[in-house]
Amino acid sequence: MDILSSILTIPEVAGSPVGAEVYRGLTATPKRLSPWLFYDDAGSRLFEAITRLPEYYLTRTERGIFARYGEEILEYAGCASDSALTMIELGAGTAAKTGLLLRAAVHKQGAVHYIPIDVSETALAEAKRKLESEIAGVRVAPRVGDYTGGIAEIRCDEQRRMVLYIGSSIGNFEPEDATNVLCEVRRRLSPGDWLLLGADHVKDRQTLLRAYDDAAGITAEFNKNMLVRINRELGADFNPKLFRHRARWNEPESRIEIYLESVTAQTVRVPALDLEARFAAGETIHTENSYKFTAESIAEIVEPAGFRMERCWTDEHEWFGVYLAVSQ
Ligand code: AVI
Repeated sequence: MDILSSILTIPEVAGSPVGAEVYRGLTATPKRLSPWLFYDDAGSRLFEAITRLPEYYLTRTERGIFARYGEEILEYAGCASDSALTMIELGAGTAAKTGLLLRAAVHKQGAVHYIPIDVSETALAEAKRKLESEIAGVRVAPRVGDYTGGIAEIRCDEQRRMVLYIGSSIGNFEPEDATNVLCEVRRRLSPGDWLLLGADHVKDRQTLLRAYDDAAGITAEFNKNMLVRINRELGADFNPKLFRHRARWNEPESRIEIYLESVTAQTVRVPALDLEARFAAGETIHTENSYKFTAESIAEIVEPAGFRMERCWTDEHEWFGVYLAVSQ
């Protein structure tokens, strides 16, 4: 890049959400980068691969709960042919698990209107194609948006609504932010509408750590992909091989923390931000928290947002909870 074009792109890139976040995070002490930076196309594919890993029990456990209790959940929410529910899903991706709930809804109410919301247009197109071809009676109306824009896409409807926020994505927010997100959801709902929330439970340390540091190294690649993205989008010169993936269980905070640890003292340049970030050997960038809940701690997040917790369905080990709450 020549000097003139680099000068011209500094303000634009630094003012972009990615530029602003990277600047803030790499100049902070300790260094940190927000988990939303994981999800470019490659990162979304890596996350899909994580969900299929033997160590990552979350996805298959939640899917098992839907397979076993899908009908019961919908019945509890009063879903019937004369009282149909519209289903809205935040951060739907390819909606791989949602088919189980949609099938149950079709069985109970004849047909179902499903609105998946996600940042990835390709994932949504795939969800629509697959669901409409596999489940007769499902009408899919995708909306592109991130979680804030996405929540604004929750429209009024004559039918009662059920908002799905599954996969324990709520665990990637700080508890206070999680309540704020749910508050925004609730503001767009009417009393009597439903929230169905998937939340990963506290369990033994080994199981948790393995889920975030798998033997095949896919989670490590997912974590380092953030550096690859910053190189591509901001012209940085991170060498991902000079960073190590680290996962840690923080018991007092009840969360898995993931980091990128510099294996050596090094300086990384980010030309688009006119920034040089110096790392000591062993210094870390904190890239994600993944909170783990109990029935009590999830209620402490959901209820201040204006929902009343109604029921929880769980698996045989109580590793994961699917919580149904009603909007007040
Ligand atoms: C998206 N989210 C619920 C995942 C989690 O388990 O916190 C993201 C993830 N990070 C590493 N592995 C999976």
